[in-house]
Amino acid sequence: MQNYDPFRRHLLFSAAAAGAAAAGGAAAQIRTDPPPHELDGKPMPEPNASVSAGPVRPGRGSTLTGKVALVTGAARGIGRAIAVEFAANGADVIALDIAGPVSAASNAVPATPAELEETVRLIKTYGRRGEAIRADIRDIGALRRIADDIDTRYGRIDIVVANAAIQRWSPLVEMTDADWNDVIENNLNGTANTIRAFAPTFIKQRKGRFILLSSMQGKHGTKDAASYSASKWGIIGLMKSAAIELGQYDITVNALIPGLVDTPLTRYETRLRESMAETGRSVPQHPTPQEAWDVRAPTVPLRVGWLEPEDISPAAVFLASDAANMVTGAEYEVTGGDSAKDI
Ligand SMILES: NC(=O)c1ccc[n+]([C@@H]2O[C@H](COP(=O)([O-])OP(=O)(O)OC[C@H]3O[C@@H](n4cnc5c(N)ncnc54)[C@H](O)[C@@H]3O)[C@@H](O)[C@H]2O)c1
Repeated sequence: MQNYDPFRRHLLFSAAAAGAAAAGGAAAQIRTDPPPHELDGKPMPEPNASVSAGPVRPGRGSTLTGKVALVTGAARGIGRAIAVEFAANGADVIALDIAGPVSAASNAVPATPAELEETVRLIKTYGRRGEAIRADIRDIGALRRIADDIDTRYGRIDIVVANAAIQRWSPLVEMTDADWNDVIENNLNGTANTIRAFAPTFIKQRKGRFILLSSMQGKHGTKDAASYSASKWGIIGLMKSAAIELGQYDITVNALIPGLVDTPLTRYETRLRESMAETGRSVPQHPTPQEAWDVRAPTVPLRVGWLEPEDISPAAVFLASDAANMVTGAEYEVTGGDSAKDI
């Protein structure tokens, strides 16, 4: 909470009034509760303008013009959708991905350099600057060099999305050491590395946005995917701790919590079977995608078997936008309503 600033109140109110006048009533900026704000003649303190989301203005929840963003795991899936959606809303975007095998403890096929280049091509279709960086989020030294390099070449970094992850399906008692360690090392440690590498630039700027990808599997247990669930649960603890530590620098840290999304992370038979088994229904040995959809959809409030990556990316834009200035330490669920069943 900052000190009362009557000059700022005056400016905001004047801007709203001027905007309304200039636009013939369609105001550009509006304080819905115009000043003075007082209690028994004493002024109400309010957040500083540099921190607050400020007055109502059109598009503030979807405008990233002039911002520079980095998205990890951007070669495909949710990371690509976020990178492209950021560009569509005005940001320059650096797409980072290993674009190759991550670990034997990954059920998904590896992403490719061609997929990463396709993300950059899509970014550029919106007239924004885009580039690909091949790197491994487990290598904090590489991430630190990339942070310094982007800061030098772009002059700023506004948004970092820690999205890269792998998933492993294996019962706990059958797990190899790699099934546990590699998933934790990649998903949890890699996400922490991303924060630790880019936070110094944000602190120097006294501004920045971290958006971490967790999962509904980070909010409840998952049969036969304990290492993934634990990594995603850990990301929520990491997010809340980082939000507490970094808030003093006007840095926000939030988690996006997708429900089941159709990407290479999930598009294989084992995952179809697991998603059907979660509903408690009997599962055929070789289910078709349509069978899996038909079993899941009635259990989800919005009646979908799964979501698309582009269902998730608009929420990332909001969390990266000025409208979310006061949102930190938060879990933002996009699940088609699946999360309504969890506490
Ligand atoms: N798909 C879903 O149903 C779902 C649901 C909830 C949460 N999520 C989360 O969303 C995020 C994106 O998932 P997705 O479904 O798009 O997966 P995906 O497999 O399609 O994409 C993940 C990308 O991360 C990259 N990556 C993995 N490890 C890396 C590393 N060490 N260094 C650099 N890049 C690396 C991969 O190469 C890949 O391109 C993940 O954090 C995932 O846990 C996904």
